[in-house]
Amino acid sequence: MKLNTIIQGDCIEKIKEIPDNSIDLIFADPPYNMQLETPLYRPNNTQVDGVDDEWDKFESFSEYDAFCILWLKECRRVLKDTGTIWVIGSYHNIFRVGNIMLNLGFWILNDITWYKSNPMPNFLGKRFTNATETILWCSKGKEHKKYTFNHKLMKRYNGGKQMTSVWQIKLCTGEERLKNEDGKKAHSTQKPEELLKRVILSATRQDDIVLDPFFGTGTTGAAAKKLKRKFIGIEKEPEYIEIAQKRIDAINDFFDEADWEEETKGAQTKVSFETLIRENFIKAGETLYAGKKDSVSAVVLSDGGLQYQNTKGSIHKIGAIIRQTPSCNGWKVWYIQRNGRRVLIDELRKEYFNSSLQSFRQLAHNSSV
Ligand SMILES: C[S@@+](CC[C@H](N)C(=O)[O-])C[C@H]1O[C@@H](n2cnc3c(N)ncnc32)[C@H](O)[C@@H]1O
Repeated sequence: MKLNTIIQGDCIEKIKEIPDNSIDLIFADPPYNMQLETPLYRPNNTQVDGVDDEWDKFESFSEYDAFCILWLKECRRVLKDTGTIWVIGSYHNIFRVGNIMLNLGFWILNDITWYKSNPMPNFLGKRFTNATETILWCSKGKEHKKYTFNHKLMKRYNGGKQMTSVWQIKLCTGEERLKNEDGKKAHSTQKPEELLKRVILSATRQDDIVLDPFFGTGTTGAAAKKLKRKFIGIEKEPEYIEIAQKRIDAINDFFDEADWEEETKGAQTKVSFETLIRENFIKAGETLYAGKKDSVSAVVLSDGGLQYQNTKGSIHKIGAIIRQTPSCNGWKVWYIQRNGRRVLIDELRKEYFNSSLQSFRQLAHNSSV
């Protein structure tokens, strides 16, 4: 498979050339079948620049459904069992698309609401201003439970708070919006890069392969490149391919988050309390406190145990005695004084884990050059 490439043609035919189970993430922004029948005017009589492109038009709902069944079937075939698909749409099409996806075996993980903080007003005043679009995030099937989701990484991205399924992101405007030579929008439905950044960051790892069968201006490719992921784009219209290729070629900087990695629980729990003492992250003789403000304390012993009054034992055993519970996770009980404040020893363990991961990478890099 040629990666970081844009393939020209009809995605239903072109996806057929991609091997089974080879793609980590699919982002699809298909035609919405908007059915804009007559031109729409603002109160000052200027025409609204709506989506009236030929590629968005279908004869009937059944023609649209048949088209969606074909491309979605192919997407499911190429998706890895650990992969996920994200399909964006509006009220015009998303319920039909969702129904088709469920019938094909996809399993909905979330329906993300993209809340546009700067939506286009409802000029006719006959409905509420439409300020949302929906992204259906799905695994390949209910039985495929080991899909990639960087939960902790996204929490970090969201300032330490778990991210919700409502994403407030501005419409793609200003500098980000690609224009033709005559200053008009180069594409009627260019998506904001922030949207694709979240999609890719949350559900892939570095070097994973992202497929976008409706590539348009290449927003997916641009975000993938900035996050050090690989992409394959498929687009029917040569003029959009030219715009997308130029856009992607001009990128020479990465997002800061490109090197972020999801902490894996297994790896971190392999760091023992003894290791932290051996590596001088914690010293024998230091005091541990059984809470952020608690005065109950124990002393660290050189063998990795704790001395509490007349009892010696592991951080877990002494923790359980103090908490008066049959067992306990000592990593979540004990605090140590660092830089004038008490820090949970689990935080020190994370710090140690991340610093040793970095030295390991440096070592691997040095030995490969
Ligand atoms: C909604 S737009 C995607 C916009 C894109 N997400 C962006 O940010 O620029 C859909 C794109 O799919 C393309 N397209 C429509 N039908 C197609 C098909 N059968 N195969 C490949 N591309 C198709 C259209 O030309 C259009 O550029």
